[in-house]
Amino acid sequence: MCGIVGAVAQRNVVPILLEGLRRLEYRGYDSAGLVIINGGLKRVRSVGRVAGLEAACTAHQVHGNLGIAHTRWATHGVPSEANAHPHVSGSLAVVHNGIIENHEALRIRLKAAGFTFTSETDTEVIAHLVELYYRQTQDLLAATRAAVAELEGAYAIGIVCEDSPNRLICARKGSPLLVGLGIEENFIASDVSALLPVTQRVMYLEEGDVADIGLLAVSVVDAAGNPVDRSVHISELSADMAELGNYRHFMQKEIHEQPRALTDTLLTAVAQEHIQPEWFGFDAAEVLGKVNAVTFLACGTSYHAAKVATYWLEAIAGIPARAEIASEYRYRTSVPNPDALIVTISQSGETADTLAALNHAKALGQDKTLTICNVPESALTRASRLKFLTRAGPEIGVASTKAFTTQLAALCLLTLVLAKLRGRLSVEQEAAYLAELRSMPNKVQQVLALEPQVEAWSQRFANKHHALFLGRGVHYPIALEGALKLKEISYIHAEAYPAGELKHGPLALVDEDMPVITIAPNDQLIEKLKSNMQEVRARGGELYVFADGDVHIEESAFVHVIRLPGGSNGLLSPILHTVTLQMLSYHAALQKGTDVDKPRNLAKSVTVE
Ligand code: AGP
Repeated sequence: MCGIVGAVAQRNVVPILLEGLRRLEYRGYDSAGLVIINGGLKRVRSVGRVAGLEAACTAHQVHGNLGIAHTRWATHGVPSEANAHPHVSGSLAVVHNGIIENHEALRIRLKAAGFTFTSETDTEVIAHLVELYYRQTQDLLAATRAAVAELEGAYAIGIVCEDSPNRLICARKGSPLLVGLGIEENFIASDVSALLPVTQRVMYLEEGDVADIGLLAVSVVDAAGNPVDRSVHISELSADMAELGNYRHFMQKEIHEQPRALTDTLLTAVAQEHIQPEWFGFDAAEVLGKVNAVTFLACGTSYHAAKVATYWLEAIAGIPARAEIASEYRYRTSVPNPDALIVTISQSGETADTLAALNHAKALGQDKTLTICNVPESALTRASRLKFLTRAGPEIGVASTKAFTTQLAALCLLTLVLAKLRGRLSVEQEAAYLAELRSMPNKVQQVLALEPQVEAWSQRFANKHHALFLGRGVHYPIALEGALKLKEISYIHAEAYPAGELKHGPLALVDEDMPVITIAPNDQLIEKLKSNMQEVRARGGELYVFADGDVHIEESAFVHVIRLPGGSNGLLSPILHTVTLQMLSYHAALQKGTDVDKPRNLAKSVTVE
């Protein structure tokens, strides 16, 4: 979604701002803009890609030592130059991420005070409100504090003013914002990846903070106006982690990075001989030892990871588990269980619905909270008592791939920890599970070698309008994830069903134009699954089956089979089958010529409701 970059330096900041915006492109946006202070206030905005903004900056010869920049994903008002940020009022300019819920009331008030609005955005009220107080106080920090005190909703904002050529003001509540610390130059950004070419030293702002940023110093006050110190972190990420390298798309790169991502995620765990609750935090044994149920809260792909985990937790750890879509849970009347472990799962750690669902769960008295997240210092990690950081590295493609499989790896660990704490694992089982986990990266590497076969299949999909994905048991959520991947990036309508449900409705859709992708692991349901496949064939449906190596399925002109290496893969099976479906979607999208990494209408981090 929207992205913010700002810089105050003793050099031209335009290239820094543009590179920062380029690094935020993956979040999804439809217009971009910047303001530079250099003698006066110079604003450039454009609809479409950052490359267009760069061309406009070159054409207007924009340069200067202080500036703010923004990529906008339209919420209030269409994607247009007038609605693009920064928004200007008098001598100052504002960029904003989030949504101001009381913008209509503020707009009426500010119009009555004589301000003229030139956009349809909620953000423009912030610019005029700060300007209103700036006229009264002539103090940019005081004006910002007075303005944000009146804002309802979520915001991360950056402000520059032509009267203060070496000063950047920023504030946050409900949307992430961090300060990057350089040598006699400082920066702001909504995501650390924007600043990696200039600094890895970052300070994460807390809820309600307002920061005053100069060339040499950064001072922060909290919501009450008290000066506060926020700790400085050195980001583990490096600038080249977000480079494409030899790959055609980030999605392809990220699919192929999975052996490395899984190795990094499991590193601490597999180096040990025993399963340790402390993988989830120093006091995890105390928290996890007391829980009697698990409730997962997540969205999209992360919700699918949660669904997989419910099967593992009930079967292996013997603990009741349920997965809830965060945007539903936050508004439904539910029965709270103070002894349930509330687990949020999120790649970004900033998903508004998941964060709100966590806060809702806590408000209901459920304070045993754990987050499984890919971004350290994100809102979810800070709001949760326990945390497990997946080490997938930055995921740039909008379609989640390595984030999903590393979430599954983390959920394997959670399952084993709870199983051990509940006395459900023998010494032999513990050793066997750890050995399985150690083999995971290598097995994923072997599945990646199937890419040419999967690519050949994808050629038959490009002209299809619909597809059906079937799985059973723990592989049903993998079918859901396969269908989501296909529709997300190839725009082919895809549905997933537990195969036993076919005859209860979806079988009506099956004909020779409906490819039916089937996950066929060698588990206790395989014979039942084969019967479901017969139901498809009897209606003329064409089957594309991903089967374990030792599953016997007769191939024919309408039954195609790709076999995963080896026999049944036990705990790892859902992860391995996921990789084949990722490759299928990727190659189907390539055939269709869609924008694989930035599919239409979608954003990487969904920071608004
Ligand atoms: C996955 O391919 C999607 N882009 C989307 O469903 C995503 O998983 C969802 O928005 C949740 O995001 P999160 O993991 O960052 O919370």
